Amino acid sequence: MGDKHKIRFEPVGVEIEADEDQTILRAAAEQGVMLMHGCKEGQCAACKSFILDGDDVEHDRYSTFALPDFEKEEGYTLLCRAHAYEDLTIELLNYDEEMIRSGLPIVQARAEVVSNDSVTHDMRHLVVRLLEPSSLKYFPGQYVDFAIPGSEETRSFSMAGTSEQVLEFVIKIYPGGLFSQFLDTEVAVGAQLEITGPFGVFTLRDAPDTDLIFVGGGAGMAPILGLLRSMAERGIDRRATFYYGARRRRDLCFDQELSELASRLPDFRYVPALSDEDWDGESGLITDVVRRLEHDLTGADAYVCGPPPMVEAAFELLAALGVADKRIFFDKFTTTGEAEDR
Ligand SMILES: Cc1cc2nc3c(=O)[nH]c(=O)nc-3n(C[C@H](O)[C@H](O)[C@H](O)COP(=O)(O)OP(=O)(O)OC[C@H]3O[C@@H](n4cnc5c(N)ncnc54)[C@H](O)[C@@H]3O)c2cc1C
Ligand code: FES
Repeated sequence: MGDKHKIRFEPVGVEIEADEDQTILRAAAEQGVMLMHGCKEGQCAACKSFILDGDDVEHDRYSTFALPDFEKEEGYTLLCRAHAYEDLTIELLNYDEEMIRSGLPIVQARAEVVSNDSVTHDMRHLVVRLLEPSSLKYFPGQYVDFAIPGSEETRSFSMAGTSEQVLEFVIKIYPGGLFSQFLDTEVAVGAQLEITGPFGVFTLRDAPDTDLIFVGGGAGMAPILGLLRSMAERGIDRRATFYYGARRRRDLCFDQELSELASRLPDFRYVPALSDEDWDGESGLITDVVRRLEHDLTGADAYVCGPPPMVEAAFELLAALGVADKRIFFDKFTTTGEAEDR
């Protein structure tokens, strides 16, 4: 444990204490203050903020794509990488009044694998039962970090289900990926895994009469499936469309369940699209399909999740179609090992 310092967030006027050994984001989360974040690894820029007062701040390794040097010199910081060595006042550039006080306690838990089945040629449906503690409170759309045995590393995976006792995940296997290889070759039924969470702000905001547009690609299926399942369970009847992009038919998963959700969600449409194979459904990149089928999304809320380039393209398109920037919620599934780390 290091010394502790006071951190004040403006314009919300919230104050926390951060230990020098912790990142400011982590200290806030542990004190129930849910700041905007995505990867927690200095890759996605979701937590970028501005230091108004104080300058004794050290950063863990981050990508200069997320925080270029000139921005750092101007006073910008990544809260997921920043350690405070004096009292600070920080201006939050992105914040959500609804989320900021909704923080759930972060729990470290042990879980046992119930199943680890393929749902496509390169995606797994991993189901784990919590052992200790036996449940974990989270909002649908959030994620947990999995420890990788024999390393100091963790990887983030979004909950695809709604149960707080039995957690479900949809996980893409990357050739040569650290967690991927572990999941592919070592994780059998009965294996025990360590998880920490919940994290993330990709959660359904309350806006009863607002239309919903979901755009997902690849394993971005996971949190969107979790949100849709929870809407069905809670009887949320907002008009909703889920655009899901895949390359080929062999990349589609949960098709039957998503089609059936239309009977439980009164105004729901599932629109899968393939970019690399002709078929009788929609064809092309998912952003091209949204551009073709939607003309005016003014007033809608959008939720986008998947690989970073897809998320960035979708964000631009949705904004051009009329969705307010602040109503486009997203999770970029950044991976480690991206270029230009600092
Ligand atoms: C908020 C959040 C939620 C997420 N949720 C999900 C989810 O629900 N499902 C899901 O599948 N994923 C999710 N991810 C991504 C996930 O956390 C992992 O990043 C991903 O699974 C890869 O982990 P890995 O250990 O298998 O691969 P890594 O070891 O991290 O490698 C990933 C890829 O990069 C390559 N690579 C590694 N290091 C380098 C390097 N130095 N140079 C070049 N290439 C390199 C590897 O070969 C591999 O192809 C999420 C990410 C975030 C940030
Ligand atoms: S850069 Fe901080 S959460 Fe992604």
